[in-house]
Amino acid sequence: MYDVFALPTFRFPEGFVWGSSTAGHQIEGDNIHSQVWKKEQDAPYAKSGKACNHWELYRQDVELLAELGHQAYRMSIEWSRIEPQEGHWDEAALAHYIDELERLRGKGIQVFVTLHHFTHPQWFEEKGAFDPYDNLKYFERFVSYLVPKVAPYVANWHVFNEFNLKMDPGVGRWKFNMIRAHALGYHVIRQHSKAPISTAHAFVDWFPRRRHDKLDNAARDYIDWCTNDFFFHAMRTGELTYPHMDAEYDADVKGAIDYWAVNTYVRHMVDARHAKFRGKRFAHKHLPMIKEPFYLEEMFPEGLIANLERLTDKPVYITENGCACDDDRWRIVWIALHLSALSEAIERGVDVRGYLYWSTMDNYEWGTFAARFGLVHVDFETFERTLKPSALLYRDIIRANGLNPEITRKYLKELPTLGG
Ligand code: FCB
Repeated sequence: MYDVFALPTFRFPEGFVWGSSTAGHQIEGDNIHSQVWKKEQDAPYAKSGKACNHWELYRQDVELLAELGHQAYRMSIEWSRIEPQEGHWDEAALAHYIDELERLRGKGIQVFVTLHHFTHPQWFEEKGAFDPYDNLKYFERFVSYLVPKVAPYVANWHVFNEFNLKMDPGVGRWKFNMIRAHALGYHVIRQHSKAPISTAHAFVDWFPRRRHDKLDNAARDYIDWCTNDFFFHAMRTGELTYPHMDAEYDADVKGAIDYWAVNTYVRHMVDARHAKFRGKRFAHKHLPMIKEPFYLEEMFPEGLIANLERLTDKPVYITENGCACDDDRWRIVWIALHLSALSEAIERGVDVRGYLYWSTMDNYEWGTFAARFGLVHVDFETFERTLKPSALLYRDIIRANGLNPEITRKYLKELPTLGG
């Protein structure tokens, strides 16, 4: 049911924070010392290259955020720029980030900083990244170097972005290390900053392909534990539990989180009759909004309500939510439906403090430029930025601190169709 014209007016609590999200590797360009860059060079898919050329155009992009009325902005600081070679600190790169942070502060924009958004230096990768526990010392050294220098500009921290989704057999030890690396980051940050700290969690709604089938339901619960509860439980209790692993308790992990940072997009179907559990979506919900096959091809905003109701013990920020579409009208539909669901979650008692749309601008989507998530269109040849109607709709939403049918009708004349 996509009839967003029929939605009632809803307003968000006073002080609710509105903004958007990005990640360094996906917009900056030339992130040449990272392991992802290295991997891209021999890969059959698109390379990040100059991405959005944000590294050069960041001043203009800060102006754009202010023009669009964004009150918050999530960005990551690239470890591989700060420490391109082991133990070598690039002060020019640090100064660059500080200039960006200062400009954002000058515009009154609260900054959410992520310390590790999938990418890290190639030299760290060659040492085995987070696989050996002993390597956490390199991450700790980076965090200890960076945090005191940028802390004055940071309103909210994310130690990591989304390490929760991996669930292949044998990943348990790595997951324990990631939880401990998060906790380690938490405690280092806490020494230098009073700002709230979290790790952005990819909160997928797992859905049994066959509701009547015990095995699909069991597989769903199993995956939900491996990807979701594993993290929440560790943060709440200090107990690290994962299938085929002896549980461990770590006092440093318990409570090492101040708010839940939720990245939320879709549900995934769980089919226990497939080795990797991946099930087909219901055909009538399948929504290929871009021409290439992409994994986010459904709108399921009600999943957001069910998921958030599991997080009532701390404040929540939606730190990513958005859709990749060629026809911007789908984005308007997406935003309207998801904000409606979010407002219902708040009514049901979830303490949601803010919403960051993914993404500020079209970006490099880990192998493709075809999946355009942006409020702002980017021409990947000229790097010209152009506002999409959804960016203006979003500015009106921010001004109204909510949505009403007049705003929707101003930007959406009719519902889009995939039927041509
Ligand atoms: C999230 C990632 C982000 C982006 C969006 C679409 O899982 O955190 O970098 O790729 O998905």
